Amino acid sequence: MRGRLITFEGGEATGKSTHSALLSGRLKALGIDVILTREPGGSTGAEAIRHVLMSGAAKPLGAEAEALLFAAARDDHVRSTIEPALARGAWVICDRFIDSTRVYQGALGHVDPKLIRALERVTIGDLKPDLTFILDVPAEVGLARASKRRGEAAADRFEAESLATHQELREAYRLLVVAEPGRCIMIDATEPKTVVADLIWKTVNERLSPATAPVLLTGAGT
Ligand code: TMP
Repeated sequence: MRGRLITFEGGEATGKSTHSALLSGRLKALGIDVILTREPGGSTGAEAIRHVLMSGAAKPLGAEAEALLFAAARDDHVRSTIEPALARGAWVICDRFIDSTRVYQGALGHVDPKLIRALERVTIGDLKPDLTFILDVPAEVGLARASKRRGEAAADRFEAESLATHQELREAYRLLVVAEPGRCIMIDATEPKTVVADLIWKTVNERLSPATAPVLLTGAGT
């Protein structure tokens, strides 16, 4: 039986990585084979492209070129990591996916929606996430968390954008939930970590019934 794809989205430092990992642990405890991955990245080729994007080296080329690079990374990630995992029945949890391109390059970068859709067709085809959590915090909270997290290090290409841009980003994610309420769920990530994690777990149980998924014969809980 084919596995499931769950994605986490949101602005900077909204807790995506933390909650991806917590959900992965809960699914593994049920004996499910889980792959925890991220974008840009998650495969050798995609991680190489990640360096180019996150350093800001591609920024002067414009949002369209960045969208092409994110798509190239996604193509490698889907083929090398996500598809093989889903095909063997594993559940894949991905920290960012297509919605990040829609929001960062589409809504914020003003890349033509036709190009965004064409890139989706090429990179993911019919592969849509079964469930997408959008972790929502006010932009200033996310940016303050990101600044605390990186300490003395410089802000990356996207963290370095203005507060107004991050506010726009939050609004674009809100619109996504309105457009695809069946797939996308907005979570108030200003709540305590355990409250957010329990809400995510409740939603996964209601929507995807992991307790009925085929279990691993070995390695459960690892
Ligand atoms: P992160 O791994 O810390 O979330 O950083 C990834 C950055 O890349 C984040 O600022 C969002 C951005 N991004 C895009 O602009 N488009 C995309 O398609 C993806 C996957 C990420």
